[in-house]
Amino acid sequence: MNILVIGSGGREHALIWKLAQSPRAEQLFCAPGNAGTAQIATNIALSDNDIPALLSFAQENNIGLTIVGPEVPLVEGIVDVFEAGGLRIFGPNARAAILEGSKVFTKELLAKYNIPSAEYQRFKHTESALKFLKSNSTYPIVIKADGLAAGKGVLIISNHAEAEAGIRTIMEDRVFGDAGNEVIIEDFLTGPELSMLSFVDAHTVVPMVSAKDYKRIGEGDTGLNTGGMGAISPNPLYDQELEAFCLTHVIHPTLEGMRKEGRPFKGILYCGLMLTSDGPKVLEYNVRFGDPETQVILPRLKTDLIDIFDAIIDDRLGDLDVEWDSAAAATIVLASKGYPESYPKGLPISGLEDVDSSTVFHAGTKIEGDSVLSSGGRVLAVTSMAPDVAEALRISYASIQKIEFDGMTLRRDIGS
Ligand code: AMP
Ligand code: GLY
Repeated sequence: MNILVIGSGGREHALIWKLAQSPRAEQLFCAPGNAGTAQIATNIALSDNDIPALLSFAQENNIGLTIVGPEVPLVEGIVDVFEAGGLRIFGPNARAAILEGSKVFTKELLAKYNIPSAEYQRFKHTESALKFLKSNSTYPIVIKADGLAAGKGVLIISNHAEAEAGIRTIMEDRVFGDAGNEVIIEDFLTGPELSMLSFVDAHTVVPMVSAKDYKRIGEGDTGLNTGGMGAISPNPLYDQELEAFCLTHVIHPTLEGMRKEGRPFKGILYCGLMLTSDGPKVLEYNVRFGDPETQVILPRLKTDLIDIFDAIIDDRLGDLDVEWDSAAAATIVLASKGYPESYPKGLPISGLEDVDSSTVFHAGTKIEGDSVLSSGGRVLAVTSMAPDVAEALRISYASIQKIEFDGMTLRRDIGS
């Protein structure tokens, strides 16, 4: 069948790369894609948020399956629109994607169904938030904009002045637009973080192999939060006992709650957890694959990915045996100098063709003539597989020595 992948990051390159391995894949398209997806698929110059244009493209090109990488089109209802247009598309509809689209919705759901998460308050007005903060004496606290904010809507606040400034930037200066119509103020939790991704249909949850994402820009987990500077799989903190706990106390009750609310979920459920001294607590839900987690999870998947997506769309995931490679995987993100703030674009990248022991997933890249140029903050993710994580990391770091672009920025401590 013909397949369309929506998005342009390393996650989408990894999705296309995996889908291309299926004997069931005919023509592959990526909208808008990058220089890496162009090597195995046809890039279509459509924005990943232009739902009407994507629908027309899929209808006109006999697309049998569409997969959505990023959250914005999911939250905006691309699944509903494609289904109404008679197309098969993988992911949650808008009513279910609210699990990522509104932090207020999710906090209320978690509280209603007794799912462990930080204590919180919600505020619709600056004055009530500021009044609450006046009576608050415990810091740090966490302020979150309700809606989507490209991963920037979470502020960790260490004193009253910062808290007031944070509330004003979100609610009055409206730096995140309507996403800041409401805010959550919640307790600050501590502990290691864990991402748990699962395949979900109406009846069945199949957890994926575990992964660990390195979110901060600086070594030793310092500096600004990024989309993710590297990942390893498996996550050394994850074991059968933890998986069983999270399924019983977090994932199943969340999905049951969504059904009771008339919002049945299907697709990829990404649960961000903090392992506190008080047990695992939910930080957030995403309704899609993680980036760069996908670049270490999909290389370990042995089952045909088209079969999995198909089974989920038809609610027969339970009939499928999802199999994983026991080998470990590691990915190192190569970013532009200045990321996650401002950074240059259009820099030539060399050495890509010399990498032979790793898979280079492209993120912010584009082709101009014969050259591959940088075009985003996260530029490449270099993934390797080996019997253990340490060896996979060694191979990736060796491969990276062959790649060059001006200001190439990476963390040398992924996995440690
Ligand atoms: P989120 O987008 O909700 O996952 O938040 C982004 C990051 O902020 C998380 O990965 C955590 O590192 C941090 N974070 C979010 N909520 C809390 C919390 N209640 N306590 C401490 N850190 C948090
Ligand atoms: N790596 C975190 C995310 O995809 O949201």
